[in-house]
Amino acid sequence: MKSFPNGFLWGAATAAHQIEGNNINSNWWVMEHAENSNMVEPSGDAMDSYHRYPEDMKLLAQAGLNSYRFSIEWARIEPERGFFSRAELDHYRRMVDTARDLGLDPTVTLMHFTVPRWMFDDGFWRADDAADLFARYTEAVLPILDDVTYVCTINEPNIAAMLAGGEDASNLVAFGLPNPDLGVADTLLESHHRSREVLSQLSHVKSGWTVATQAFHSTGEPGADEKLHEYGYPRDDWYLEQSAGDDFVGVQAYTRTFIGPEGPLPVSDEVETTLTGWEFFPDALQMGVRSAWEKSDHTPVIVTENGIATADDTRRIAYTEGALSGLHAAMEDGVEVLGYQHWSALDNYEWASGFRPTFGLIAVDRETFVRTPKPSLAWLGDVAKRGGLA
Ligand code: NOJ
Repeated sequence: MKSFPNGFLWGAATAAHQIEGNNINSNWWVMEHAENSNMVEPSGDAMDSYHRYPEDMKLLAQAGLNSYRFSIEWARIEPERGFFSRAELDHYRRMVDTARDLGLDPTVTLMHFTVPRWMFDDGFWRADDAADLFARYTEAVLPILDDVTYVCTINEPNIAAMLAGGEDASNLVAFGLPNPDLGVADTLLESHHRSREVLSQLSHVKSGWTVATQAFHSTGEPGADEKLHEYGYPRDDWYLEQSAGDDFVGVQAYTRTFIGPEGPLPVSDEVETTLTGWEFFPDALQMGVRSAWEKSDHTPVIVTENGIATADDTRRIAYTEGALSGLHAAMEDGVEVLGYQHWSALDNYEWASGFRPTFGLIAVDRETFVRTPKPSLAWLGDVAKRGGLA
C-alpha cells in the first residue's frame, strides 16, 4: 500500500465561472457574447452550481473526500466598482458553511481567471491600481473566510498573464531572465502580495497562489535546450520561485510539451491523447511537484488541480492512479505535499473550448442538470478513505 499522511487533503476542485452559470457581470461573459468571440460556445447556465452547490458538495463528501476547492466570484461580489454585494457575500459564506457541515475542508480561490467587467474595462491587470483593487476585494471577503484554512489568491498567474494578452504575453516567453518590467506578471505578483498581507489579518489562514506547471521537455536537437530554457523560465519557474515564503504553493499539472529548436511541438500522433488534445502523461504531476518544491525553496505543496478530459472514465482512473503513484514517490523523496485536489469535481465549461472536454468525476446532464457520479469518484473516495493506493 502506498500510504499518504494522516490529515492529507483529498478533494476535488472547481472554479466559479466554469460551473455556476450566468456570471453576467464578468469579463468572460462579455467575451463569450462578443460578435468576434473565438469561443466554441457561451457558458450560459453552465452546471447551475450557483444553485446546486449543496448537492455537488454532498456527492463529494459521500464518496469519502474531505476537501473541496472552489472559487468565489469577484464579478458577483463587486459587480460595480466599489459596490460590494452583501447578498453575494452571504451566498459564499453559506458555501463555506455547507462544506464544513459536510466535513469538506474548503479551499477558496479568490480569482480564477475572471474579473468584474468594469475591472476589465478599466485596464484589467495592466491598470496602475489593479493591485489596490485586488487588495480591496480581499478585504471585503475576509468575513467569508473565518472558517477557511487554505486560500489561493490567484489561479495560474502564468496563464492569467497570457490571457491579459498582447505584448506582455510574448515578452514573458521571450525574456530569458526575470525582468522588473514584466508588466502584467509583476502586477499579478504585487496583487498576490497585497492580498496575502490583507489575509494575514486572519491568523488561521494559510495563503498561496496556484501555478500551472507545464513539464517542458527538450527534444535534445541542437538549439532545443536553449529554447527550453526560455519556455521553462520565466513561464513557470519564475512564478514558482516567487512562492518562496508563502504558506504553500498550489501545483496544477496535466501533461508535458516537447520543445524543439523552434519552440513547442505539436503532440505526436504516436501517443494517447485526451479530449483537450493533450498527451496522456500522468507523470506530469510528480514532475510539477518536484519542480515546485525545488524552485520555491521547499514551500509545502498542495496539488490544487490534476486530471484529464475524457469520455472514458477508466482512463481517468488510470491517469489518476499513475499521477498519485508519482506523487507518492515524490513524497518519499522528501517533498512535503499537503493534499491532492482533482480537477474537476464536475464536468464543466472549459473556457474557449466549451463543454466538450469533460474533466469531471461527476457527469452533469446539460438539459436537466441531473448529476451522475462516475466510477472515478467512488474510486478516488476509496483511496481517500483508505489513505492511499492499494
Ligand atoms: C487549469 C485551470 O485552472 C482550469 O480552469 C482549467 O479548466 C483546467 N486547468 C483544465 O484546462
